[in-house]
Amino acid sequence: MTGAPFARQPHAIGSDRLRPLDEGECASLAGILVTLDPWQTLGFQADALARYLARGDDALARFVLESGGAPAGILAVRSPWLRGPYIELLAVLPGAQGSGLGRRMVEWAAGQAAATSSNLWACVSAFNARARAFYGRVGFIETATLPDLVTAGFDEVLLRRRL
Ligand SMILES: CC(C)(COP(=O)(O)OP(=O)(O)OC[C@H]1O[C@@H](n2cnc3c(N)ncnc32)[C@H](O)[C@@H]1OP(=O)(O)O)[C@@H](O)C(=O)NCCC(=O)NCCS
Repeated sequence: MTGAPFARQPHAIGSDRLRPLDEGECASLAGILVTLDPWQTLGFQADALARYLARGDDALARFVLESGGAPAGILAVRSPWLRGPYIELLAVLPGAQGSGLGRRMVEWAAGQAAATSSNLWACVSAFNARARAFYGRVGFIETATLPDLVTAGFDEVLLRRRL
């Protein structure tokens, strides 16, 4: 890797491409995310999620994964965070799940992070069994339970991958 980690520019990952999220697509992507867990169960509203995706935040790198030329996923990474970056949002769109794209984004983030850090962090809702299994498969260890972090009544699980 050359330059700063998580540079806001297009990055080739295999035959796919991660490129910066465009403000104009935040509303439509948020509209999809709120129909999926964890956001659906946690009670996210599309307009609030769209504002989060679009707002000015120099420490949050936001990318869209394009596969076959079409948007297939979203990755948002907060860096710096805690002796390593934090994957704040990771989603593969429904039609594209289960074909390795989630792993590809995580491995890319780990490669970027490894240039400067020895940790990569993420969080997952305790009820999101599928994502917990996924994060386990891509090298994360469950580190702490954080009650009521996002929505009252729901636990989040802090995940750490040593790099
Ligand atoms: C969780 C998510 C990011 C996984 O991405 P994906 O592209 O579907 O997963 P991949 O195809 O890259 O799978 C990577 C590994 O995880 C495993 N995995 C994926 N889903 C799994 C499941 N439901 N149960 C068990 N293992 C699973 C795969 O078997 C694979 O393991 P392997 O390569 O060792 O065989 C995706 O399903 C998603 O966006 N879900 C909705 C949003 C969400 O939960 N985001 C994460 C928490 S905020």
